[in-house]
Amino acid sequence: MGEKMIKTKHVAHCLVLAYPGQGHINPMIQFSKRLSHKGIKITLVTTLSFWNQTNNNDNNFSPAIELESISDGYDDGGHLAAATLEIYKDTFWKVGRQTLSNLIRKLGSSSCNYNNVPVDCVVYDAFMPWALDVAKEFGILGAAFFTQPCAVNNVYFHVHKKLIELPLSESEYSLPGLVKLLPQELPSFLYEYGSYPGYFDIVTDQFSNIHKADWVLANTFDELEQEVIEWLSKIWPLKTIGPCVPSMYLDKRLQHDKDYGISIHNQNIDACIEWLNDKPKGSVVYVSFGSMAGLSEKQTEELAYGLKNSNYYFMWVVRASEQNKLPKGTFLDTLEKGLIVTWCPQLQVLTHDAVGCFISHCGWNSTLEALSLGVPMIAMPLWTDQTINAKYIKDVWNMGLKVVVDEVEGVVKRETIGNCIKEIMESEKGNGIKENAIKWKNLAKDSVDEGGSSDKNIEEFVAKLAHYAAAK
Ligand code: UDX
Repeated sequence: MGEKMIKTKHVAHCLVLAYPGQGHINPMIQFSKRLSHKGIKITLVTTLSFWNQTNNNDNNFSPAIELESISDGYDDGGHLAAATLEIYKDTFWKVGRQTLSNLIRKLGSSSCNYNNVPVDCVVYDAFMPWALDVAKEFGILGAAFFTQPCAVNNVYFHVHKKLIELPLSESEYSLPGLVKLLPQELPSFLYEYGSYPGYFDIVTDQFSNIHKADWVLANTFDELEQEVIEWLSKIWPLKTIGPCVPSMYLDKRLQHDKDYGISIHNQNIDACIEWLNDKPKGSVVYVSFGSMAGLSEKQTEELAYGLKNSNYYFMWVVRASEQNKLPKGTFLDTLEKGLIVTWCPQLQVLTHDAVGCFISHCGWNSTLEALSLGVPMIAMPLWTDQTINAKYIKDVWNMGLKVVVDEVEGVVKRETIGNCIKEIMESEKGNGIKENAIKWKNLAKDSVDEGGSSDKNIEEFVAKLAHYAAAK
């Protein structure tokens, strides 16, 4: 009886499995909210170690989204508790597979007190292809979810197929659907081959069983990556469903959807917004390098003085674990125009009138957020997909500048940072970039709004899922 009542309320049940990381769970939370809004029951799952790290692990999304966990084998501490990333990955892949199976079994059993609705489909972060094998063992649908752009997915796919030889030896790379790329514009795991073997394996193994996926979903939108999406659509059942950014910053159809809902750090909301409130329009440089990457001490110092000497207001996110790299001495005591915080409500900051540009590591979520909110960028990529994202930001989407690393010292010098800030804030070129950023903002909104490219893809996904669930 209980089951029937829930069944009639929800058209199908999706288990959404996120890789444990802020930049990975954020887009899957947003996709979950869209599905839930269209009538799908959602169980949002990640590792227990990650839930323990977040500030708010109570479900504050919506009653239709249940939270559950699997184990990575390191419930106390996650990857930081493992000796190496490779050991973490091997353990996680084994224990994760087992505990995911247990969870799917539990969700479908009558002993589960809140949720005895069998799972119809597993939507899994493509970093964890074993989740698709688990779905298939249960005879249910499986959808790979790529949290990174299609340009990046295509490069890794070519590596997986051994169509790019490693270590890199060509002076330039031409891949279908992509602009020509120099070696250092490819993801760092390729041009610094061997730098992070664990991550290299994860990103290239994403395609090991992709032929078995019922859908391949990507957090991007057609207008942004048209050619590569067209090319990949010929080989995969690809659907673009992004930007996965809270609805109130885009189409505003999901009322109250103003933030992702979980955060691994305290956000200092009031301190940040109050500080921005009395700054003139477009006068603040916002700086953040996301949730993982760290700068060297030398680079932190160059950036610190680049910001300070620019004489612009700046808000700089330096995570608690990075604060010891800040210049010693008078720097912190003489920050008349700067605010340094350990974490901030990034969406609220980017959308604030006072913010004029964003110095970013070009993580994919930060890039999509800047695009969606029309904020021009200064790209300062560090590793992983950020290098190729930066190339597209500057040369393809024309919505930012990119810093140049000093060849002798191996860092971006303070003068370079200062010049980029001046150029984006004051020059004709900067004005052109700002206009382009607004163009992308409108296209991003249209794609998720009613009848837009991503909205239609989500509708189609939901309809097929509902049809499958009804026919069971
Ligand atoms: C990681 C990789 O670094 C990135 O290259 C990849 O594309 C995704 O995984 P991360 O470093 O966390 O991501 O960067 P990003 O993808 O930009 O995600 C960071 C998220 O944290 C964003 O949604 C951003 O809004 C949020 N954030 C960041 C905050 O809420 N507050 C902050 O102070 C900084």
